Amino acid sequence: MATLKTLFFLGIVFPSCSLIGASLGHGTRRNLLPISKGGPTIFDVTKFGAVADDKTDNIDAFRAAWGAACKNSTTIAKVLIPAGTFRTAQTMFAGPCASPKPITVEIMGTVKADTDPSEYVSPEWFTFQDIDGFVLTGNGVFDGQGAASWPFNDCKRTKDNCAPLPSSLKLYKVNNSVVTGITSLNSMQFHFHLHGCSNVSLSNLNITAPGSSPNTDGIHISSSDRIKVFNSTIGTGDDCISIGHSTTDISIANITCGPGHGISVGSLGKRPEERSVNGVTVTNCTFLNTTNGARIKTWIGTVPAEAKNITYEGLIMNGVQNPIVIDQTYGSKKLRAPSTSLWKISNIHFRKIKGTTVSNVAVSLECSSRNPCESVEIADVDLTYVGSPLNTTFISSCFNAKAIFGGTVNPPACSSSLGV
Ligand SMILES: *[C@@H]1O[C@H](CO)[C@@H](O)[C@H](O)[C@H]1NC(C)=O
Ligand SMILES: *[C@@H]1O[C@H](CO)[C@@H](O)[C@H](O)[C@H]1NC(C)=O
Ligand SMILES: *[C@@H]1O[C@H](CO)[C@@H](O)[C@H](O)[C@H]1NC(C)=O
Ligand SMILES: *[C@@H]1O[C@H](CO)[C@@H](O)[C@H](O)[C@H]1NC(C)=O
Ligand SMILES: *[C@@H]1O[C@H](CO)[C@@H](O)[C@H](O)[C@H]1NC(C)=O
Ligand SMILES: *[C@@H]1O[C@H](CO)[C@@H](O)[C@H](O)[C@H]1NC(C)=O
Ligand SMILES: *[C@@H]1O[C@H](CO)[C@@H](O)[C@H](O)[C@H]1NC(C)=O
Ligand SMILES: *[C@@H]1O[C@H](CO)[C@@H](O)[C@H](O)[C@H]1NC(C)=O
Ligand SMILES: *[C@@H]1O[C@H](CO)[C@@H](O)[C@H](O)[C@H]1NC(C)=O
Ligand SMILES: *[C@@H]1O[C@H](CO)[C@@H](O)[C@H](O)[C@H]1NC(C)=O
Repeated sequence: MATLKTLFFLGIVFPSCSLIGASLGHGTRRNLLPISKGGPTIFDVTKFGAVADDKTDNIDAFRAAWGAACKNSTTIAKVLIPAGTFRTAQTMFAGPCASPKPITVEIMGTVKADTDPSEYVSPEWFTFQDIDGFVLTGNGVFDGQGAASWPFNDCKRTKDNCAPLPSSLKLYKVNNSVVTGITSLNSMQFHFHLHGCSNVSLSNLNITAPGSSPNTDGIHISSSDRIKVFNSTIGTGDDCISIGHSTTDISIANITCGPGHGISVGSLGKRPEERSVNGVTVTNCTFLNTTNGARIKTWIGTVPAEAKNITYEGLIMNGVQNPIVIDQTYGSKKLRAPSTSLWKISNIHFRKIKGTTVSNVAVSLECSSRNPCESVEIADVDLTYVGSPLNTTFISSCFNAKAIFGGTVNPPACSSSLGV
């Protein structure tokens, strides 16, 4: 860890383009005859020198295959990572591509991350950047081999050793794109991190890490719009999906989440550059033994902003600790003070939510005294308390929340918006 941390402190973060730029010069292999049978032209990484021996660092071969496909192909191109186990350290596939859209990366085999932290100069393993019309597909596996680095990424235990570890798959400034089918295993930090993206759909994914692994969010989305996530199974040690700041029009459906911390909007407002979140729908999802279900969380914040127009609907909770949560005290629990968050939360809907919870406070709305939550609808929520030992009070708790309860409500509605 020391090496990674030192690199960050010294500000030695290489410009992203140097990673790809270097591979396009001379000295590459001669027989780069791509395969084309009517479909896209295929750039098989093994034809560029990749070796599936679970040992060789394939970074140069991956770069060369991507460079040939993206920068040099005049026909629709596909980079193929075939069956076998390929190892690679930090890898960047950057556009813009000269080849016709879309450009595909298909993974059939397993790619394993190098576990030496000094191989990572910034916190991502694979970066896909500046691409319009990208497809990442296949039934293969990205294995972040996170177990080696998780002990160094638990800020609660090692406060002085919290350099951000690499996310497995970072999509940065990727537009009009599709990610489907792949498995992401044991990321060091986030599995997927989308930032600066527009119109990307992610589906049929299998995202897996142990419930105890720190900060292994399944999919983290920030500064992006029109992102869809559906038909996926996500089990991690942090949020299955977290929707960060400056996002609009995010829709999530048909996700099975667990273990993990639920599907969250936030945390928002930690840094002043964070802008509002508008338009999130989370529909038809199942939560298995997660610590939270539907959650919106903000810090007190330093710059006013909003989280609004958010709907959680058609959810099944199975042994979930905190099924419905708005928490504006994030990061300040130790103060035990009511939230004075500058973030305004409004037009929020929690509808058709059923199943079981192990907490006797199944609905908890802790809003800002400065900015009470407005138009929070809780409708057709039918939860059964299965906690042990059984606490006979089964309640909703509201602070500074203008909540409207409708239809079936179990636990019963808050008796007052200022307290339970
Ligand atoms: C680019 O294409 C040309 C012509 O097909 C080929 O000779 C050259 O090796 C290719 N370069 C790379 C980096 O693939
Ligand atoms: C993606 O779209 C944004 C606007 O939404 C634009 O600024 C950016 O240049 C686009 N990126 C690419 C790679 O096309
Ligand atoms: C969004 O991206 C998909 C996949 O590339 C594309 O088919 C679709 O046309 C895009 N939508 C818009 C509005 O550009
Ligand atoms: C997800 O991948 C893991 C590891 O490869 C596997 O054990 C599990 O069965 C997969 N789950 C689904 C739903 O495909
Ligand atoms: C998602 O899964 C459902 C159920 O298996 C299926 O009906 C639907 O077509 C899938 N959606 C896509 C876009 O694959
Ligand atoms: C979710 O699954 C249902 C079937 O169970 C399907 O009708 C629906 O289209 C799926 N939603 C998405 C966004 O794929
Ligand atoms: C609410 O969000 C949806 C997208 O989820 C968007 O289409 C709609 O315009 C938003 N409504 C308002 C009032 O901003
Ligand atoms: C959610 O499930 C309902 C009932 O199966 C279905 O009608 C609806 O289309 C689904 N919504 C999404 C966004 O998949
Ligand atoms: C959820 O937790 C209960 C009790 O700890 C356990 O019996 C059950 O197998 C767990 N279910 C899942 C899906 O992990
Ligand atoms: C039951 O829950 C209420 C509300 O959270 C709490 O105040 C009380 O102490 C709990 N009782 C027991 C016996 O745990």
